[in-house]
Amino acid sequence: MKPLPRPPIHASLSGRSVLTLQHHSAESVTAVLDLAAALKAHPRPWPKWLEGRVIGMIFEKPSTRTRVSFETAIARLGGRAMTMSPADMQIGRGETIEDTAKVLSRFLDAIVIRSGSHERVDELARHATVPVVNGLTPLHHPCQALADAMTLAERFGSLTGLRVAYVGDGNNCFNSLAVLAAHTGMALTCASPEGYIPDPELVAWADATARARGGSVASIGDPLEATRGARAVYTDVWVSMGDEAEHHERVAALTPYQVNAALMAGLAADGIALHPLPAHYGMEITHDVAHGSQSALWDEAENRMHVQAALLVHLLPPL
Ligand code: CP
Ligand code: NVA
Repeated sequence: MKPLPRPPIHASLSGRSVLTLQHHSAESVTAVLDLAAALKAHPRPWPKWLEGRVIGMIFEKPSTRTRVSFETAIARLGGRAMTMSPADMQIGRGETIEDTAKVLSRFLDAIVIRSGSHERVDELARHATVPVVNGLTPLHHPCQALADAMTLAERFGSLTGLRVAYVGDGNNCFNSLAVLAAHTGMALTCASPEGYIPDPELVAWADATARARGGSVASIGDPLEATRGARAVYTDVWVSMGDEAEHHERVAALTPYQVNAALMAGLAADGIALHPLPAHYGMEITHDVAHGSQSALWDEAENRMHVQAALLVHLLPPL
């Protein structure tokens, strides 16, 4: 196997933070997806492109995939990951975000953070002098959307005009998927009940941006209409982290939006199901769909590692 060439640096990513990919270039997003695919195809050991780099990860909320996939990706690329819990940091005793950002930037090469507040992550990124990567906030989950797009590209080749339906809560995963749809020109339709529709401003931006690339982004009400003939249906939990107090009303409003065998029957013959996981079976998705022949959930989870490896390589130029 020929050695993998290190890809050229993209000004839109190198040294920059990624809270959402909305303001990064479409070309840099494609470069991350291309490198992720190349790394996935490359046997181990991987090139040690992160040798000498230390990446800190702050988790204010639980995580299985984000934490383990980042730690694994960093280890495979020869770097070191350091996972921290705010409860063990002085931030838990009131040290400011500003001071935390300034001090951590003196030690670390990048910071990954999962937080219950997008504003807190924004503040961290404003004061940090190293790239900050959003590992999930209530508004965005960009690393997840990169893995979603990679999984769709693996299954269907070109993403241009690819019909994808998102059904359920117009939440962080939808927002980030819409940004990826905009950059890659997917034809993404979100079906949500009243009260759970995605941010119209984001949808309008994503639609205009996607249209310039042969796609579209729309928000409608009917899950059957969104999924009819689509190549993929994507759903996410009805009760995201932080929404627990609204459990009952959310389940009541979102029950007609379950991804089950009946909804899958409306997809194109080669249609697949996507879900960022963790899943709540019998709620937003049934166990038979998640574990059935049309499920791409497990590839999607695996791809978190490949896209995050590729993203870090693009954020951190050679030492
Ligand atoms: N999809 C996702 O972000 O999973 P975790 O919450 O396990 O990190
Ligand atoms: N929307 C979910 C995604 C979990 C990966 C949440 O924010 O909890």
